[in-house]
Amino acid sequence: MRPLHGHPVRSLEWSAVKPIYDPALTYEQNYAEGPFGAFADPQVTVTHEGAPLQRFFGLPVWQTFGIPAGPLLNERFTTAAFRAGFDICVYKTVRSSAYPCNPFPNILSVKVDGALTPDKLSSPLLADAHYDQPLSISNSFGVPSQDPDIWQPDMAEAVRRAGDGQVLVGSFQGTRRESTTVGDSYIQDHVRCARMVVETGAPVLELNLSCPNEGTAQLLCFDTPRVRNIVAAVKEAVGNIPLVLKLAYFSDQQALENLISQTSEFADGYAAINTIPARLVDAQGNQALPGEGRAVSGVCGAAVTWAGLDMTARLAHIRDELERDFTIVGVGGVDSPQKYHAFRDAGADAVMSATGAMWNPLLAQEIAGIA
Ligand SMILES: Cc1cc2nc3c(=O)[nH]c(=O)nc-3n(C[C@H](O)[C@H](O)[C@H](O)COP(=O)(O)O)c2cc1C
Repeated sequence: MRPLHGHPVRSLEWSAVKPIYDPALTYEQNYAEGPFGAFADPQVTVTHEGAPLQRFFGLPVWQTFGIPAGPLLNERFTTAAFRAGFDICVYKTVRSSAYPCNPFPNILSVKVDGALTPDKLSSPLLADAHYDQPLSISNSFGVPSQDPDIWQPDMAEAVRRAGDGQVLVGSFQGTRRESTTVGDSYIQDHVRCARMVVETGAPVLELNLSCPNEGTAQLLCFDTPRVRNIVAAVKEAVGNIPLVLKLAYFSDQQALENLISQTSEFADGYAAINTIPARLVDAQGNQALPGEGRAVSGVCGAAVTWAGLDMTARLAHIRDELERDFTIVGVGGVDSPQKYHAFRDAGADAVMSATGAMWNPLLAQEIAGIA
């Protein structure tokens, strides 16, 4: 018998779904007033009997499923997610000091015919505010952060509110200030921020390497020598607290193998994928997201499932080849129990859903077979 019972909630009709993060509101409004939809409904509560039998970095969990860095802006969001049966929840990426959000809008629906494979990236994709199934979206926040004076006590409360059999993961990244070079101070900022996350009591840390490498054109995770220096310094600072590296999709197998062989002595796990960058336009062919540097924006959701599965399988293969035992967190387009199982079959030890969970807050219960 499953040790998991849900409050009798019906699966939601797509047309009636109110997402947990409201794309029609600003990030600040969502932060202050969210979560919305089923996450604001205290009746959406999973209760458990017995003991959690699954493990995530040795920590007991009811189910190896959760929400990755992004949709859970603060403790109210993580607590609601835990209540709804998402047992591994990542608190949205924080920085060592306050950082502004990109201008509104920050989320748009992206129209992709099937999978967003590399051949489809040569022409722009239509983006608008009509959210249809199968859903892919773009998120363009610029990794905003509250000041540590705000996020540290809030993350500490999020850790405390995780139930038995649930794990709060603290995501963080480094910031390069204008006055500094991409050198030692950038590494030290990662270390400083990692220590701040440790102070909250988060039992697992995740370092976001899949954001633009500040000061260069490419993503940080594609810069293996720099990543190795950063990860070595962070690991020394955080000791035996598990450290996960969040990666983008790698098309170059040699580059992926090189990154893993250079970092797996320090990293305890890898989470992949983040979003896939694409050029977005509105119905008139104009840039869809306003402002400089936003012609290209990251796409996530159903259209990137192939890339998440592909990275999971390749990470599992590299793990075998290198005879390492790191944890793999599979992310990308998970919006159904079938996809959860496909990621597990591909080698993921845990699976997470951002877009899918935002529009289907009952997804964890569906995977558990209770919704
Ligand atoms: C609203 C939103 C905000 C996000 N913010 C972050 C973030 O702060 N840090 C990060 O590492 N990834 C962030 N992501 C990326 C997700 O963690 C995930 O890698 C990506 O969305 C692919 O998963 P999905 O297809 O299930 O959405 C964000 C995603 C969404 C939808």
